[in-house]
Amino acid sequence: MYRSKITGMGFHVPDIVLQNNDLKQWMDTSDKWIQERSGIKERHWVSEKEAASDLALVASKKAMAMAGIEASEIDLIVVATISPDYFFPGVANQLQSILGLRTVGTFDIKAACSGFIYGLSIADQFIRTGQHKTVMVVGTEAQSKFIDLSTRGRDMGVLFGDGSGAAILRRSDDESGVLSTHIHSEGADMKNLWMEAPGTSGKNWMNQKTIDNGVHHPFMNGREVFKNAVRRFPEVINEALEANNLSIGDIKLVIPHQANYRISQAVAKRLGVGMDVVYSNIHKYGNTTAASIPIALSEALDEGRIERGDHIILAAFGAGYTWASAAIRW
Ligand code: COA
Repeated sequence: MYRSKITGMGFHVPDIVLQNNDLKQWMDTSDKWIQERSGIKERHWVSEKEAASDLALVASKKAMAMAGIEASEIDLIVVATISPDYFFPGVANQLQSILGLRTVGTFDIKAACSGFIYGLSIADQFIRTGQHKTVMVVGTEAQSKFIDLSTRGRDMGVLFGDGSGAAILRRSDDESGVLSTHIHSEGADMKNLWMEAPGTSGKNWMNQKTIDNGVHHPFMNGREVFKNAVRRFPEVINEALEANNLSIGDIKLVIPHQANYRISQAVAKRLGVGMDVVYSNIHKYGNTTAASIPIALSEALDEGRIERGDHIILAAFGAGYTWASAAIRW
């Protein structure tokens, strides 16, 4: 059995930056409320002309440059997103065309904030079995295009940001690489964090009533999501530790999905570690859903927080609910 290894990472956020106070032009909110409740100071939003695939392309090129590979060496593209350019086909399919790739397989994953780890898990399985050699996994979101900017949607509207992160996974030829991945889901509570439309559950897929009711914007039961996140993050991190016979003291850095600084603080407390072990950059980008982990991993590498031989754990919780972890020896 082979092992997979991340050989390149890259991220990209769009140019438009919105400070918390900028949101006051649309909704009743305050910088104080947002910072106290979430730790967010600013977020990046796409322009009218940009979409999820544009961000993905820039991040992908950076990841390929770090890995030192040409696009033609990639033999599978997996994109995690809940804000694709089109309902179908997927962003992975668009990326393939823009990168001028041959007829390699491509698909999108809709596992919300856990999407990047789900993608990493899929890529890892394909590389372990020998079916693929070089897989690109991208998390990309342009969700500012569907958030409710009115006071009605302010609980979610202030949290989301846009961005993209990409990873190149290749066969490992040494002891480093992805040690394990664990993915979970619980559909019973899906309506605590969801977007009802557009979809085929109603009479039609999108109509005036849908728009009047605002169900084409995401909805969140914030307190329930918070409670579940604080429970599932440590659970799935401990699962990764046990699977590899590691203890939390062996971990250089936990890179959680950047949902909310308070969630990360609660997770650190439950794990018995300080915030120096739990990476956070939510103050700059907000919650970028499937893009948050690859953005955070890229920045942690740029900042020299991860060195060869270090053990790190990626962990996520999000809509679905979905949750997941990956243990990596760098
Ligand atoms: N600005 C100002 N006030 C706001 C607001 C905003 N953006 N959003 C909500 N409020 C108000 C509420 O209306 C409520 O007012 P009320 O007491 O008059 O009814 C008050 O603030 C408190 O709301 P509450 O929902 O109790 O706040 P909270 O402390 O639970 O924090 C979240 C709200 C959303 C920050 C918190 O629930 C959370 O972080 N949840 C998880 C979010 C998450 O991670 N989602 C993504 C999962 S991957």
